[in-house]
Amino acid sequence: MALLKRDDLIKIIETCQIKGQDEAIIRALMYINLGYPIMLYGPPGNGKTTIAEHILRYISGGDNYHRIEATEGMTEYHTIGGFHPLSMSGNPELSKQFVYKDGVITRALVESKNLLIDEFTRAPTTAYSGLFMLLSTGKLPLEYREEILMRPNDWVLIVTANLGDEGTFKMSAALKRRFIPIFVGYTSRYTEEKIIRMYTPDLDPMIANSILDFAEETRRLWQEDKALPQGLSTDGVIKMARYCDLSISEGLDPKTAFTDAAMHQGVVIADETDYVSLQTVNELALKIASRL
Ligand SMILES: Nc1ncnc2c1ncn2[C@@H]1O[C@H](COP(=O)(O)OP(=O)(O)OP(=O)(O)O)[C@@H](O)[C@H]1O
Ligand SMILES: [Mg+2]
Repeated sequence: MALLKRDDLIKIIETCQIKGQDEAIIRALMYINLGYPIMLYGPPGNGKTTIAEHILRYISGGDNYHRIEATEGMTEYHTIGGFHPLSMSGNPELSKQFVYKDGVITRALVESKNLLIDEFTRAPTTAYSGLFMLLSTGKLPLEYREEILMRPNDWVLIVTANLGDEGTFKMSAALKRRFIPIFVGYTSRYTEEKIIRMYTPDLDPMIANSILDFAEETRRLWQEDKALPQGLSTDGVIKMARYCDLSISEGLDPKTAFTDAAMHQGVVIADETDYVSLQTVNELALKIASRL
C-alpha cells in the first residue's frame, strides 16, 4: 500500500513554507511512495532543506526522524558507528576504555526512524560505504555486533546536495544511482512576487520589481554567461525585501536601500576572491538602481 495518498500530497503541498516548488515536491513524494531514496539538489537557498524537513515531519508525525548534516570530516564512524573513547568522563580508569557508538544510519535502522542527510556531498564517498551496501542490498551488516540490520519497510531517506559547489565531493556514479535526483531550482518571478508581498506587504512595488529584476539578471549571468558562480536565491530575494522594507521605514531613501541590499547579496552570490565577479554584481546593482 502506498505510504502517501492523494490527500496527503495535497496537504504536504498546501502546508509547505516553500512556495512555487510544487512540481519538485510532487515528484519527490511519488518516488517516496515507490520506496526510493530521494536526493534534492540544486543551487543554494531555494528551499531544499526546508522541503526535506517538511516532508519528513509529515511522514514521521513530527520531529520523530533522525538527521545529520554531512561535513568534510565525516566518516563511517558518524554514519555507521565506531569505538569512542571514554576519556571525556574525567575518570582515569574509564579513560582507557572505549565504548561502541552507533552512527546515525544505524540508529535510524535500529529505531525504525526516517532519515535526512543534509548537505550529503560535503562528506566524501568513503563515509557512505555502509549506506551504499544498505541501498544496494537492503541490509546493513554490523560486524562488531554479528548482526545484520534490515532496511525497515516504508523507510524514508532524503538527502540534499549542492552539486558542483565549492567544498563538495564528487559522488561515485554507483552511489548516485541509488538515489532519485530531484532538482529544486529557482522558482518563477510570479511566485517570488507573491513571496515578497507575503514577507513585506508594505514594500513599494517599484522596489519589489527591482529586486526581482536583480534576481533574474544574476540568474541569467550565472546560467548563460557563466559570469557568476550562482544566481540570487529565493532566500536572497526575501532578505533584500526585508532589508529594504525596514531601512525605508526608518527613513533611508529607496534607491540607497535597494543599492545597499543588492550589494550585500551580491557579495553572497559572487566569487568573493575574484574582483571581476564582485564588480559584475556591483555594476548590475547600480544599473538597476539608476532606474529608480
Ligand atoms: N520558494 C520559496 N518559498 C518560500 N521561502 C523560500 C523559498 N525558497 C527559499 N525560501 C526561504 O529561504 C530559506 C532557505 O531555505 P533552505 O535552507 O531550505 O534552502 P536550501 O536549498 O537548503 O539552501 P542551502 O543549499 O544553502 O542549504 C528558508 O528560510 C526558506 O523559507
Ligand atoms: Mg540546505
